[in-house]
Amino acid sequence: MADNFDYDVLVIGSGPGGYVAAIRAAQLGLKTACAEGRETLGGTCLNVGCIPSKAMLHASELFAEASSGALAKFGIDIAGASLNLDQMHAEKAKAVKELTGGIEYLFKKNKVEWLKGYASFESANSVKVGDRSVTAKNIVIATGSSVTALPGVSVDNDAHVIVDSTGALTLPKVPEHLVVIGGGVIGLELGSVWLRLGAKVTVVEYLDQILPGMDEEIRTESAKLFKKQGFTIRTGTKVTGATTANGKATLTVEPAKGGASETIEADVVLVAIGRRPNVDGLALDKAGLLLNARGQIDTDHDFRTAAPGIWAIGDVIAGPMLAHKAEDEGVACAENIASHTGIVNHAVIPSVVYTMPEIAGVGLTEEAARALGEIKVGKFPFMANSRAKTNRDTDGFVKVIADAKSDRVLGVWIISSLAGTLIAEACIAMEFGATSEDIAYTSHAHPTHAE
Ligand code: FAD
Ligand code: NAI
Repeated sequence: MADNFDYDVLVIGSGPGGYVAAIRAAQLGLKTACAEGRETLGGTCLNVGCIPSKAMLHASELFAEASSGALAKFGIDIAGASLNLDQMHAEKAKAVKELTGGIEYLFKKNKVEWLKGYASFESANSVKVGDRSVTAKNIVIATGSSVTALPGVSVDNDAHVIVDSTGALTLPKVPEHLVVIGGGVIGLELGSVWLRLGAKVTVVEYLDQILPGMDEEIRTESAKLFKKQGFTIRTGTKVTGATTANGKATLTVEPAKGGASETIEADVVLVAIGRRPNVDGLALDKAGLLLNARGQIDTDHDFRTAAPGIWAIGDVIAGPMLAHKAEDEGVACAENIASHTGIVNHAVIPSVVYTMPEIAGVGLTEEAARALGEIKVGKFPFMANSRAKTNRDTDGFVKVIADAKSDRVLGVWIISSLAGTLIAEACIAMEFGATSEDIAYTSHAHPTHAE
C-alpha cells in the first residue's frame, strides 16, 4: 500500500460507476474505501433509477395485459383483474433491497470499506467524510447526477403533486391526469407506467420531436406508437410556470417558438428535463479542480482529471448518463489506477428505452453517419418476422447503418418488444468490427426476433 495514505483508492459515490470501481480496485490488490452518503449502496441506479423503474415497468405491463382484454385474442379471458398498487410498490422495494444489499455483501467479500457519509475534499489527497478525515493516494469521483430543476416549477416529492423521477416511482395512487415535462427517456418510461395503470398522460416536450439523440426515423415511429397507446404528446411546447392548490397543479405552457400561453390542469406533474452532475458540496476547488461549461468534470481517455491522483467516472463526466457506461468506466479506471490498461469503447455504448415496444440503439444515427460519408441503410419490419407475427407482436423495425464502401456496421436501431435484448448482438458485431454481411451470414435460430 502507498506509504502515508489511509487508502490506495478512495471512491466517492457507490453507484454503478463507484461500486464497480471500488470492487475492481480491491480485486487488484489495492486497499480501497468507498464513501456513500445514502443509507444504502448502489447509487441512483439501484435505489431510485434503473431498478425501481424497471420493476414498475414490468409490473404495469403485466397489469395492462391482464386488465385490458389484450389476451382475449389468445383465448385467455381474465375477468376482474384489479390493481393493488401497494403490493406493486412492495415488490419493487423488495427487488431494490435485494440488489442494494447485494452490493453491501460484495463490498464485505472484496474488503471494500464503506465510509458512511458525504465526502468533501480538504486537499487533492484528503477528504472529509462526515466527521472523519481520510487520505488516499488515488481518489475516484463517482458522484453521479441529480434531476435538472425547471425554473418556476418546484418539485416536492412528499406532496405527490409536482414530482421528479424519484417521486414518480412512489406515487401512492394512480393520478387521473399525469403531465410529464420532457419527452425523454424518463418521461416516456415513467409515463408508460402510469398510463398502463390507468392515468391519462400528457407529455410536454420543448423540441419538435421526442427522444433527443436517437435516430430520426426511430423518434418519428416511437411517437406514432406512443400516441396509439394513448399518450398525448405536445412537442414544440414549453412550460413557463406551475402553481399548486388543493392537491392539483396548473401548468402554464406556450409554444416553444413563442406565442399565446394556455394552462393545463394535472393531478401530478413529473419534471423530467434531464440530469446534471453532482458536484455541490465536494469542494472541488480544494482539490484544484474546475468544471467544464456543462458542469462536468473533464477527464482524459484514462479517466484522469486535471489534478494528479484524482480520477472521475460515470454521470459526473461527459457522455451518456447510463449505468453500463458508468460500470465500464469503473472497471477501466480501477485497472488504470493499478497500472493495467483499462479501456472503454465509447463508440459502442447501447442505449435502451424500456417502454413497450422497447427502443434501442448503438453507434451512429443515420443522420450522423450520413454527415460523415457515404452509407447504406437496411431496414426490416417486424411485420415480416415469423416469431413477431406468431406472437402478434409486430410493431417496429430494425435498421442497420453501414459504411457504403467497407460495409462496416456504423449503427443499429431497433424498435421491438425485445429491442433491449436484440441490441446486444449489434454491440458485439460493432465491437468486433463486423460488416453487415457478417451479421447476415450468421445463422440465427428460427423462429426468433433476432432472425
Ligand atoms: P449514481 O448512480 O448517481 O451514484 C452516485 C452516488 O454518489 C449516489 O448514491 C450519491 O448518493 C453518491 N454521492 C454523491 N455525492 C456524494 C458525496 N459528496 N459523498 C458521498 N457520496 C456521494 N441507466 C441505464 O443504463 N439504464 C436504465 O434503465 C436507467 N434507468 C434510469 C431510471 C431513472 C428514473 C433514472 C433517474 C436514471 C436511470 N438511469 C438508467 C441512469 C443511471 O441511473 C445512471 O446513469 C447511473 O446511476 C450513473 O451511475 P454513477 O455511478 O455515475 O452515479
Ligand atoms: P432526457 O435528456 O432523456 O430528456 C429530457 C427531455 O426534456 C428532452 O427531450 C428535452 O428536450 C426536454 N426538455 C428540456 N427542457 C424542457 C422544458 N423546459 N420543457 C419541456 N421539455 C424540456 O432526460 P431525462 O428523461 O430526464 O433522463 C435523464 C437521463 O437519465 C438520461 O440522459 C438518460 O440517459 C438517463 N436514463 C436512462 C434510462 C435508460 O437507459 N433506460 C432511463 C431513465 C433515465
